[in-house]
Amino acid sequence: SRPVSPEVSGAPGWAELESAVAGCTRCALAEGRTQTVFGVGNRKAAWMIVGEGPGAEEDRRGEPFVGRAGQLLDNMLAALGLNRETVYIANVVKCRPPGNRDPKPEEVAACAGYLERQIELVAPRLILALGRFAAQTLLQTDVPVGQLRGRAHRYAGRIPLVITYHPAYLLRSPEQKARAWDDLRLARTQTL
Ligand code: URA
Repeated sequence: SRPVSPEVSGAPGWAELESAVAGCTRCALAEGRTQTVFGVGNRKAAWMIVGEGPGAEEDRRGEPFVGRAGQLLDNMLAALGLNRETVYIANVVKCRPPGNRDPKPEEVAACAGYLERQIELVAPRLILALGRFAAQTLLQTDVPVGQLRGRAHRYAGRIPLVITYHPAYLLRSPEQKARAWDDLRLARTQTL
């Protein structure tokens, strides 16, 4: 695997990775953050959930998916008999983009090595990617989420990867929730 970042040598363990993220200044997002948002949950989880990046509430609390979208994610997990303690949750970018704008390609590129190493360390049996940034970053593609969801992919040719809509999008477009449930059911079949 490629290095996490030029500043971190070798294949860091959790403690080294976490402190590298906490002190990261690899892109401009470092200037606007209250704190980094590393990830949360079970580091030996079967399911890893990947979101986009911290919003205001996450930036304040240092934990992913603790705002309104996070409540919907918690409900989605609960429907599968899962929760924040049994899965591992991380984002593509670890710092909040100002005003919740989309992360820029160079910000995603600067941060991607951290997520890649988190995936290696967790070694999940399934990755569930929420929304465009997670899907396109993990699959290295520009194909829209609507065309990626609904079928099983593989991350790095190996780990089953299911794409679904971001919960923040589902809050704005509840008519898409039925499709998201289909995706969650598909994800569950991948770990049986
Ligand atoms: N949206 C995300 O993609 N990640 C979070 O942590 C919170 C909201």
